[in-house]
Amino acid sequence: MFTITKLSPAIGADISNIDLRRLAESKDAAIIAALGEAIETHLVLRFRGQDLSPGEFVGLASAFGHTKTLKRAAASTGAHLPGHPEIKVVSNVANGDGRPVGDGGSSENYWHTDGTYLPQPVKLTFLYGREAPKTNPPKTFFMNLCDVYDRLPHGLASYLSGLSCIHYSEYNFAPEYAERIAALPEGADRRHVGPSFPLVRLNPHSGRPSLYLPRQRKCLVEGLTIAESEKVSDLLWTYVEAYKDTWGDVIGVDDLLVFDNSFTLHRREAFDSRERRVLWHISTEGKPPIPYALAS
Ligand SMILES: [Fe+2]
Repeated sequence: MFTITKLSPAIGADISNIDLRRLAESKDAAIIAALGEAIETHLVLRFRGQDLSPGEFVGLASAFGHTKTLKRAAASTGAHLPGHPEIKVVSNVANGDGRPVGDGGSSENYWHTDGTYLPQPVKLTFLYGREAPKTNPPKTFFMNLCDVYDRLPHGLASYLSGLSCIHYSEYNFAPEYAERIAALPEGADRRHVGPSFPLVRLNPHSGRPSLYLPRQRKCLVEGLTIAESEKVSDLLWTYVEAYKDTWGDVIGVDDLLVFDNSFTLHRREAFDSRERRVLWHISTEGKPPIPYALAS
């Protein structure tokens, strides 16, 4: 069986002595289950030196859940690998004709969770490094949101556990909400449209509560005014930004990372736009969050 080496006290583990190509072929149930357990425990797993074709990458990810197509409503299909709609290309690179080969840029991608604006939010994100900048490659950092919740003042933590907020999306609307968005009158506040999720969710694996933040900071908290919602959000982000026990590294060529979006935030540093960075990205569908307040 593979070897697990923790990358930091709070989050992340390297998995070695494993060939993911062979696993993609065999779909060995015992190994898949053990890796699933490792993801739940460490939240971020890194596998180095992996050699996978697009089909093998999809096959591997689909062993861990239902793979999603995160196509943007108004985007070109260029952001996806031809013939593999599950694989989003994350890149700053443009083709000879100037069209981007993928989705993304070189500026900083600030702390966020993938796909929380979907009624079935993203569970796992798989990132497979295909090209990395030669000079000052950017690091991708991860944060354990169960740990962040634990460090909140008790009064704030218990106040939050009764609250839910609307995970609207400014640009990347879920198809499930496209009709409601289209029907909004001119100038209407889009922040009312999106799934409503608890700010504190249960981690069923550990039994711990976890903060669950929408990608957009100016989200509305159910039952609060806009000003009150923004105050709660600003306060929570001060705790997120004060939390320093994160782990991060460069995603090198042939590195494969998988992380659980349910209980983590991630961010990527900026890099020189003249350098080439290409990753393949697959995500799996999760379940709606379980409110911690109801579970406890
Ligand atoms: Fe992301």
